[in-house]
Amino acid sequence: MQADSIRAPVVDTPERRAFYEKISRENMAPLWTSLAELVTPEPRSPCRPASWKFATIRDAMLEAGGLITAKEAERRVLVLENPGLRGQSKVTTSLYAGVQLVLPGEVAPAHRHTQSALRFVLEGGGAHTSVNGERTIMHEGDFIITPPMTWHDHGNESDQPIFWLDGLDMPVVSLLDASFAESLGQDEQPITRPLGDSDARYGANMLPVDHKGGGSGTSPVFNYPYSQTRDALERMRRADAWDRCHGLKMRYSNPITGNHAMATMATFIQLLPKGFSTAAYRSTDATVFVPIEGRGRSIIGDDFVVDWEKRDIFVIPSWKHVRHEAHEDSVLFSVSDRPIQEALYLFREDRGNV
Ligand SMILES: [Fe+2]
Repeated sequence: MQADSIRAPVVDTPERRAFYEKISRENMAPLWTSLAELVTPEPRSPCRPASWKFATIRDAMLEAGGLITAKEAERRVLVLENPGLRGQSKVTTSLYAGVQLVLPGEVAPAHRHTQSALRFVLEGGGAHTSVNGERTIMHEGDFIITPPMTWHDHGNESDQPIFWLDGLDMPVVSLLDASFAESLGQDEQPITRPLGDSDARYGANMLPVDHKGGGSGTSPVFNYPYSQTRDALERMRRADAWDRCHGLKMRYSNPITGNHAMATMATFIQLLPKGFSTAAYRSTDATVFVPIEGRGRSIIGDDFVVDWEKRDIFVIPSWKHVRHEAHEDSVLFSVSDRPIQEALYLFREDRGNV
């Protein structure tokens, strides 16, 4: 059995309380009254298990579409707020998530910031994201990166609304007081490179001949198309034994370093075949999941049950056990802060049974 605290609570006395009040006026506080809350035997997060149905998000977004344009809003996004972290624009303690809508003919104007952002396309196709002079066309299931301080804008020339998940490291950048942002002052940045240029240079198992060094920490491939991802999973399933905790799970990688595709956020894709139930798993990186195919159920902790289908979104807090059950062949995208935890030697996982 785990202890709730590494020490017994300190008894309060009138003399001690008077002392605490006196030193408080000098901006000091006793550690011994808060130590048990600060240094816990296990993660004790205010982040809670949570889930959102895409149908609910979609209805609210279309209503927002009638209230404000993408241009006026700069980004027409509904923030997914963790119920344990309301009012903080956080989906986990370290990650921000929102769903963005760009209607046909709209633009989300060019800007840049130190926060890293990812897009995971939920519904629609044919819209574009431009990053540092290159445009990429967005399709359902594509994972797209806008690296720190790169100009980016979005536009939708298709005849359908497009919805995507935005994932940002905003809470981490805020924690470190390292936020910088600027507007380009125009809707769309000038396009200086052809479609698919980054993918051709860096995403075909080759590098430019004089490429040196370890890159910027973010993958130069800024669109990982779902068509390629899905095809790879399908080919792997013929050969691979299923991992009992993950099914068939891959991480998106930076082709320069082999590390995660982004410096602060890890992204994953996993295939769970129909009828597969995973063994219980937990890790210190709270994770946002988005099924993009299939239907199933996830049990988080002791009793939080999510019955999910395509495009729903759910959150597993740090160190909470999760078990997934796939009722159909299912593909799940997920994102967490694992690169930060790995860099700081904090990441832990537990593949145990409960
Ligand atoms: Fe942005």
